[in-house]
Amino acid sequence: MERDKSSGCIFPKGFYWGAATASHQVEGGNHNDWSEWEKSEKRVEDLKSKGLVEKYGLDNFISGRGADHYNKYKEDFKLAKELGHNATRFSIEWSRIEPEEGKFNEKEIQHYKDVVKTLKGLGIEPFVTLWHWPIPLWMKDKGGWESSEMPKYFVRYVRKVVEALGKDVKFWITLNEPVVNSGMAYKEGVWPPQKRSVCKYLQVNRNLIRAHILAYKVIKSIDSKAKVGIAKNNAYYEEKGRCVVNKVIKLLVRYFGNDFWLKHIGKYQDFIGLNHYFHNQIYYGLNKNENKITNDLGWEIWPTSLYYCLKELKKYNKPVYITENGLADSKDEKRIWFIFEMLKGVHKAIEEGIDVRGYLHWSLMDNFEWAEGYWPRFGLIEIDYKTLERKPRKSAHFYRDICIQNGITSSVIEKYRKDIEKFS
Ligand code: BGC
Repeated sequence: MERDKSSGCIFPKGFYWGAATASHQVEGGNHNDWSEWEKSEKRVEDLKSKGLVEKYGLDNFISGRGADHYNKYKEDFKLAKELGHNATRFSIEWSRIEPEEGKFNEKEIQHYKDVVKTLKGLGIEPFVTLWHWPIPLWMKDKGGWESSEMPKYFVRYVRKVVEALGKDVKFWITLNEPVVNSGMAYKEGVWPPQKRSVCKYLQVNRNLIRAHILAYKVIKSIDSKAKVGIAKNNAYYEEKGRCVVNKVIKLLVRYFGNDFWLKHIGKYQDFIGLNHYFHNQIYYGLNKNENKITNDLGWEIWPTSLYYCLKELKKYNKPVYITENGLADSKDEKRIWFIFEMLKGVHKAIEEGIDVRGYLHWSLMDNFEWAEGYWPRFGLIEIDYKTLERKPRKSAHFYRDICIQNGITSSVIEKYRKDIEKFS
């Protein structure tokens, strides 16, 4: 790998540069278990009691029209192209494809075929996620992921989609962050269906693992050359102090948080999709982060955390695509520094032998941040939700220069030095 003089770094040839989105967060107009939950009496009461409706307004918490990416995808992907991207991750909305049990909506299948065609036409490689959290209402009524029948239904939907889109899609991500979704829904009990139960949590994870393995086999039976994996959220865990108790706790938390799923799906993954956001310092079982620099959601930003996460993936001996990494930063104050630091880490990991092949920033545009709603701004592109105007932020231009030059060159560093050094 080349190294640009004066501390710049060039990435391997063919590296994928781009950004990611998810259907429910950007499309607008979805009708699924999440959209129902957003409007449920319990949810609205809960928001009111916490003073959040007063603070942000109820609309903040309703996905509604959102960024209207469903209708504006051509414009958005054209913009992605102008911003230098050669890859995009997006998700297919199951509730659109199969709004009623066993009845597939051909018009919606055609929509996603057009989405893929648009991307390919622009020379952008699609990374397609098949489940990024919401489920169709009929599946919710059957018990959702608690139901042992769920894997069977999921795979039927997967088959339909892959048969329709298959020849144009090389990369499939079956499940997005299964541990986060099941944890928030069944361990914390704060996301739909808000059931706190360890038994259900384990049951749901068992069904998700089965669903992935079945989906993997189906996709490969349709296209043996397809590359299939999941997007796994891995955090960087570090023990605070030298106490052996902290070390043991760290190893346990890391095993269950980062490795359990990847080990369980074992050979049924052609690559690892890494979603990375968190650094957690373990102090007798508690997180003791210094929180010197945080994003708008209060999440700590630790410049070397992605590098360490990548290093931990070496043992799997698989190609790695960073399928999400980003921050809520409405003022775009930290994003340039963040991208710079994270990418320095990616480059270092590659130099040390980790087979990283792509970086997809979260997110292409501002979006609906689940239970938090619309106020956190994760986008390289700013969305005006009233006019639907799209406006690339300064960080999007910085990232464009990196994408186009396949690395962080000295000229990019020079151009953005002030922003890069702001928090160093
Ligand atoms: C999810 C995204 C989410 C992002 C920021 C990831 O866990 O896949 O849907 O918006 O984190 O919270």
